[in-house]
Amino acid sequence: MGKLPSFVFLIFSFHCFKSSLALIDTNISTNKSALLGLKSFITSDPYDYLSTWSISSFPCNWVGVTCSNRHGRVHSLNLGGMDLKGTIYPQLGNLSFLVELDLSSNNFYGKISRELVQLHRLKLLNLSHNDFQGQVPTRIGDLSMLEHLNIRNNNFEGFIPLSLFNLSRLKTLDWNSNLIEGSILVEVGRLDHLNVLQLLRNKLLGIIPQTISN
Ligand SMILES: *[C@@H]1O[C@H](CO)[C@@H](O)[C@H](O)[C@H]1NC(C)=O
Ligand SMILES: *[C@@H]1O[C@H](CO)[C@@H](O)[C@H](O)[C@H]1NC(C)=O
Ligand SMILES: *[C@@H]1O[C@H](CO)[C@@H](O)[C@H](O)[C@H]1NC(C)=O
Ligand SMILES: *[C@@H]1O[C@H](CO)[C@@H](O)[C@H](O)[C@H]1NC(C)=O
Ligand SMILES: *[C@@H]1O[C@H](CO)[C@@H](O)[C@H](O)[C@H]1NC(C)=O
Repeated sequence: MGKLPSFVFLIFSFHCFKSSLALIDTNISTNKSALLGLKSFITSDPYDYLSTWSISSFPCNWVGVTCSNRHGRVHSLNLGGMDLKGTIYPQLGNLSFLVELDLSSNNFYGKISRELVQLHRLKLLNLSHNDFQGQVPTRIGDLSMLEHLNIRNNNFEGFIPLSLFNLSRLKTLDWNSNLIEGSILVEVGRLDHLNVLQLLRNKLLGIIPQTISN
């Protein structure tokens, strides 16, 4: 008699387990197709780092991909220093699950799509040491969780977007060695969590606003 309820419970919990697995599966597979989309724009991978990235394997085991322990969600993508060459996946916004995106020290080139600003969970964006060009998206301020923004050593041009100064959580900003022009605006004083501000070797001019003391 006592055995029946526990047996029923077992079936019931197995059922729950299966359906939650299915839910995770769905999310992982959409995340997977977004990552494979990114891969499809990489034209050169001389050390075969991305050979593990295939439709038949689990993305949490892919080189450069880290999933959170708690939910098994794709959390960060670190492709730094892999000597990859290519352009950036135009539907970059599909990677909206990412908290960290590090593409530093590769040979990525071309413009960054405006969809970048859809990565609304991002805390770290590292595009440093590549050949990116064009403007920093004017709506960069939409990345409201951003703490670290590194675009050092690229060919980004144009003015510093005003919305940048809305990123109240910013701690480090490294824009050294680009083609950024114009002047540093008084709004810089609003970034009161900033520890590191690097703007060396650009085309900036004018005076440094007093608000920098904030
Ligand atoms: C899967 O994605 C849906 C909608 O995108 C979300 O509501 C749900 O919480 C996600 N589930 C898991 C396990 O991440
Ligand atoms: C990626 O997965 C997360 C949760 O695991 C889900 O909320 C999100 O909608 C998925 N995103 C894409 C583009 O598949
Ligand atoms: C990216 O998202 C768009 C629409 O949001 C969708 O049409 C497209 O299939 C997605 N691409 C991938 C590779 O998931
Ligand atoms: C970005 O990448 C460069 C080069 O790999 C590294 O030196 C730097 O510490 C990284 N910056 C951040 C903020 O993660
Ligand atoms: C900064 O944020 C405020 C409040 O969210 C918004 O109204 C404003 O348009 C933003 N400024 C820029 C330049 O994006």
